[in-house]
Amino acid sequence: MDTDSQMGKRAVILDVDAGVDDAFAILLALASPELEVLAITTVSGNVHVDSTTRNVLRILSLLSWGGLPVVAKGEAAPLKKELFTAAKVHGEDGLGDLGDDYYPPLDWGLVSAKPAAGLLPELVAARPGQVTIVSTGPVTNVAKAIMKAPDLMAQAREIVVMGGAIDTAGNIPPLYAAEFNTYVDPDALDRVLKSGIPVTLVPTDVTHGVCLTRDKAREVLTGPGNAVSRFAFDCAQKYMDFNLASEGIDGAYMHDPLTVATVVDPSLVTTVPRRIYVDTREGMTRGMTVPFRYPDNVEGTPNCRTAVTVDSRRFLRMLLGRIGSSR
Ligand code: RIB
Ligand code: CA
Repeated sequence: MDTDSQMGKRAVILDVDAGVDDAFAILLALASPELEVLAITTVSGNVHVDSTTRNVLRILSLLSWGGLPVVAKGEAAPLKKELFTAAKVHGEDGLGDLGDDYYPPLDWGLVSAKPAAGLLPELVAARPGQVTIVSTGPVTNVAKAIMKAPDLMAQAREIVVMGGAIDTAGNIPPLYAAEFNTYVDPDALDRVLKSGIPVTLVPTDVTHGVCLTRDKAREVLTGPGNAVSRFAFDCAQKYMDFNLASEGIDGAYMHDPLTVATVVDPSLVTTVPRRIYVDTREGMTRGMTVPFRYPDNVEGTPNCRTAVTVDSRRFLRMLLGRIGSSR
């Protein structure tokens, strides 16, 4: 039986490669009373982990309320592959290049002495069966933690991953076979899927259905007197510029906040059990996530659930209602 601690709140650890949409995910999680954010772990992905860690502290520096989660710096490189980053999408600093002066002083005291792969098993084992890990970057930290402490990590309630492109295109040119997080570290997702821990993938099949347009973002995030919502709008400008130039879409896909939202309200998506094969080879299909189409054999035994539909309107209403300037 799933039990939630702290007045029914769901205990979560956010594992991020912040990242503009990771920033939206962090803001949504911290603004959601249904969640208790135990920690934020950082990993290389959109930009190097030195930058993703600094970016998490930048985001937290804007939040005036107390009780901020501990931050644990994670892996600088994928398990086996060379690091591939996305500065052209998220900005050189990974957060829209707003500059150090944009933020209040950072609280480096929030950063744990333990690395992410050490803190994850510790927090999971402290609350057996209760902790959900929400990964919105390459799952390198989670894979490392599973390899380091399999019996402790087996006590996780669930791992929810923004990752994969199952029955739709991904976002890695030229084939668009793979989705970024899985392309960066396919070996890590392969290891997580083999762990036996319940895994739910939130793939581009649904995240490409939740685009926040620049006009809507301006309308809802730039009202007076809310530095946090203003930051969300400001940090997303380069991300939206990239989408406009590359896809003609003046907006940003909300990959990561949707992933968090599925933990807040699982009814936002429908999921199906699937067995997913991850292509860990180098080459044109690196990181491709392929489902076994005929599960009527032992190879088809499910290794995860994948989200297949999303209530986009209800999600965007939740997101903007919780991080918008009028809250
Ligand atoms: O493919 C989209 C994912 O890759 C998002 O998590 C984005 O932040 C990048 O990490
Ligand atoms: Ca991300």
